[in-house]
Amino acid sequence: MNRSFPNWHPMHFVPPKSNAVIDIGCNVGESLVAARALGVKRLYGIDINRYAVDAARQRFAGDEDCALAHGSADELPFDANAADVAICTEVLEHLPSELRPSALREIHRVLRDDGTLIFTVPAAGMFAPLDPANLRFRFKSLYGFVSSRLGGPGRDRGYEGQKHGIVWHHHFTLDELHALFEPYFEITTVRWRASLLAPICDILTFPFARLNRYDHPVYRALVRVTNWDHSKDFGEAYAYNVLLVAKKRPTLSRPQPCGDSDAHEPTRTASDRRVA
Ligand SMILES: C[S@@+](CC[C@H](N)C(=O)[O-])C[C@H]1O[C@@H](n2cnc3c(N)ncnc32)[C@H](O)[C@@H]1O
Repeated sequence: MNRSFPNWHPMHFVPPKSNAVIDIGCNVGESLVAARALGVKRLYGIDINRYAVDAARQRFAGDEDCALAHGSADELPFDANAADVAICTEVLEHLPSELRPSALREIHRVLRDDGTLIFTVPAAGMFAPLDPANLRFRFKSLYGFVSSRLGGPGRDRGYEGQKHGIVWHHHFTLDELHALFEPYFEITTVRWRASLLAPICDILTFPFARLNRYDHPVYRALVRVTNWDHSKDFGEAYAYNVLLVAKKRPTLSRPQPCGDSDAHEPTRTASDRRVA
């Protein structure tokens, strides 16, 4: 627990004295900057969007303890056991569904035994259909028109020619997350964050983000409302987002009976499928 951040914020769950953090889908490096401010020495980040990685690299220029890679979450270019904390916030919904299990397997590989995964994704509660990221698929022409009026695709251009493009934002149920996590991680904390206000504010902040007006007072007010919404636990039925904290299941180092000797296959138990 980290008291510099409120208890609904992913960084709150970075254990004190963590040595090395990997941020999967690090974008421009916000969480890595926050991790460094918490005293984490070794930082790793990866993102599929080359413009985002370039921006993160500029931020950490000359920092030899920060390795930033351009690539995809399902093939992490980092050593096994490289970090004691992995952060993967608002990323898995951007991956095509067939890549999601490999991303979890890779995060498991790069984490040390007993390492912590801090994870957020959109939740499948009542207000999921309001997700503005999916308006581009629902109303293609309108989205194209508004987008062109606001200066074009912005950082979305960074997806061009990559392993995958922009996909429909999937909103997850807890059962789906348990199924994805089950082989690799034991979920220890579930926090249902935000409800109706977050998607409304997301829609309203879109023009400010596209025009890079992050300093605008209206944008800042909308962020405050979004943060307030995230600070409340609305339960699965109404939640727009979910935060999970999970412990790595240990990697088996010895060959298993029955000839199954996959060194990366973690242990699992059926009893802890659900978080109490
Ligand atoms: C909504 S942003 C979240 C950024 C950051 N994690 C945060 O919480 O602020 C989603 C990020 O995931 C990245 N992303 C999407 N697909 C990815 C993939 N296959 N591998 C790595 N990063 C990916 C995007 O480029 C983008 O930077």
